Amino acid sequence: MNEYFVLLNGVKLPKIGYGTFRCTDGSDERIVRMALEAGYRMLDTAAFYENEEYIGKGIKESGVPREEIFLTSKVWKTDLGYEKTRESFYASLERLQTDYLDLFLIHWPKPDPECENWKELIAGSWKAMEELYEQGKVRAIGLSNFLPHHIDALMETAKVKPMVDQLELHVGYMQELAVQYCKNMGIQVQAWSPLGRTRVLQEAVVLKMAEKYGVTPAQFLLRFLLQQDICVIPKATSMERMRQNLELPMIEITAEDMYTLKCLPQLGWSGEHPDRERVPAQV
Ligand SMILES: NC(=O)c1ccc[n+]([C@@H]2O[C@H](COP(=O)([O-])OP(=O)(O)OC[C@H]3O[C@@H](n4cnc5c(N)ncnc54)[C@H](OP(=O)(O)O)[C@@H]3O)[C@@H](O)[C@H]2O)c1
Repeated sequence: MNEYFVLLNGVKLPKIGYGTFRCTDGSDERIVRMALEAGYRMLDTAAFYENEEYIGKGIKESGVPREEIFLTSKVWKTDLGYEKTRESFYASLERLQTDYLDLFLIHWPKPDPECENWKELIAGSWKAMEELYEQGKVRAIGLSNFLPHHIDALMETAKVKPMVDQLELHVGYMQELAVQYCKNMGIQVQAWSPLGRTRVLQEAVVLKMAEKYGVTPAQFLLRFLLQQDICVIPKATSMERMRQNLELPMIEITAEDMYTLKCLPQLGWSGEHPDRERVPAQV
């Protein structure tokens, strides 16, 4: 599906990307080649995933030209601040065997929920990212897991507006306020765990509606997000699932069904929150 969202600076972001967290178990580039063969042209990784080397190798071996691939990476929360962010960026480039990124994100706004100087740290990271952006080393810069109060804090010193915010979003966990805030700011929202890491795939309402629209439950969950102009980055490890998640039948979910899904009680979230200690995932 070769469709795009256009970011604040005009850069085109594919609507569907391939999420690589634990896609290789840290030891295999074949899965990356497979995702490219399936047709994905956006790959989402992070320093934290410890798979950038395999992604770099997979891209090289695939024969797909680098400029056809939208490549995202992220600076991990223990590397916040000006110097460490720069170092993290260049280390990612080296592992990925590339000389630029398409999108570079701050993975989490705080090293831990109790951190007192997080505002200073993200201001330093952002300054480094703005410089890399101005130098043409990265085509777009953005955030991940930033809620409105984290973005407000960043904007106190930012010169360049963030272009993307990657948030945990799926049926049962829609973070409506954060999504609306980003939309008002022109920040493109991207959903991580769009399938709720399978936790919401078996929900009765999802199964019933998927059947009604004649699509698989995974395709239904992805369409639910895309219909709200939210970019998705599902992870899958078989060619069949990779294709299923990319080749989405064109369905239009009715307003009534959208409201039903958006008003479900909270379910299936990861338990990860920037301002709180992690809690066990809610199945
Ligand atoms: N920014 C952040 O803090 C953050 C956090 C987490 C994730 N992410 C990003 O978001 C990406 C996606 O999130 P995620 O990996 O946590 O979860 P996800 O994409 O919601 O779910 C992945 C799970 O769904 C299964 N699956 C995929 N397609 C399916 C299908 N068509 N039918 C049935 N099951 C299917 C996969 O199984 P198989 O693998 O066995 O095929 C896997 O177990 C990550 O890979 C990563 O790039 C970002």
